[in-house]
Amino acid sequence: MRILVTGGAGFIGANFIHFILKKVSGVDIVNFDKLTYAGNLENLTEFEKNPRYTFVKGDILNAEQVDHTISKYEIDGIIHFAAESHVDRSILGPLVFTETNVIGTQVLLEAARKHKIKRYLQISTDEVYGSLGAEGLFHETTPLAPNSPYSASKASADMLVRAYVHTFDLPAVMTRCSNNYGPYQFPEKLIPLMIINALNNKPLPVYGDGMNVRDWIHVEDHNRGVWDVFEKGKIGEHYNLGGIAEKPNIEIVKFILNHLGKDESQIKYVKDRPGHDKRYAMDVSYIKQELGWEPKIKFEEGLASTIDWYLANKTWWERILSGDYQNYFQANYKDRV
Ligand code: NAD
Ligand code: TYD
Repeated sequence: MRILVTGGAGFIGANFIHFILKKVSGVDIVNFDKLTYAGNLENLTEFEKNPRYTFVKGDILNAEQVDHTISKYEIDGIIHFAAESHVDRSILGPLVFTETNVIGTQVLLEAARKHKIKRYLQISTDEVYGSLGAEGLFHETTPLAPNSPYSASKASADMLVRAYVHTFDLPAVMTRCSNNYGPYQFPEKLIPLMIINALNNKPLPVYGDGMNVRDWIHVEDHNRGVWDVFEKGKIGEHYNLGGIAEKPNIEIVKFILNHLGKDESQIKYVKDRPGHDKRYAMDVSYIKQELGWEPKIKFEEGLASTIDWYLANKTWWERILSGDYQNYFQANYKDRV
């Protein structure tokens, strides 16, 4: 079987390709990625000569490129990771989020329909459900109530997938996952940003009071679930995935400093993110009951090994920091201090 993975040079997509090529037999991968600021082929160097792996530089907004790639490689299934994925960037410049996440998904759905793709998996997020108060969990039945331009674009894409299943019988399934962490995550997201700033003796910018809560899942647990849903999920269904590890941001920041033997005086409370969702938490009982999936990696162990990965892979992130990253960092943090 040959699968088109979109966004395979990004954080979760690259980890997914590692998972498939190392742990699953009989599946070849075509990685279709535009290589935006978040796409990095260094995440996949070990597969460059692997006959099961092909890289195609392409844009999901370009229907011709998508069509051509599907035909040329006789694609059986699509797993759609590609997206603009960072909430803060969606506040600084929302249009590209609608273009990539909504129109890009539409282009892929149309191609999947035209080429009679046997299986399509949409990678979505818990953020489409909005924000929780102190109590409760997101269930698959929780109404969509996205609050950021990022989550609104992801929710819109989810609605298109639903429509293609309902109207065209597209054999699509969907996963909605909580916050991922692990190797190869771009250092704009909380965990890698804090690790790298701590190592570079820079301030650790905590938004608001640091008491916003996210549910954290190791990317390997997420990707195992993605594969379970791709293989065994029911057409038209969406499945919540999460790590069952709710943490206030400040606790994570302190854990990182402590693990690195750094002082908490590096923490800097800064102006809050506009519209900052208070709390995300997932009910994962449906996927456990239906497909037998549950997260396995304990948060403290996963976070410690992730910190150690960043310690061991300094050249990977130093190259990122030396590029356009500085412009983004300046734009996002300049008015917060
Ligand atoms: P990422 O930003 O690290 O990677 C995105 C990838 O998509 C990059 O390789 C980029 O080059 C590629 N891409 C962007 N626009 C493209 C286009 N027009 N055509 C082709 N490729 C394009 O993102 P990530 O954190 O790996 O997230 C992957 C998916 O998982 C996204 O759909 C995201 O919404 C979803 N998700 C992420 C998280 C998380 O915690 N990171 C949680 C739940 C769901
Ligand atoms: P992030 O990694 O951007 O993921 P998301 O917003 O999609 O959940 O942020 C995770 C949490 O960390 C969120 O509550 C915002 C907070 N945060 C900070 O406090 N400081 C930062 O510099 C960043 C990037 C995030």
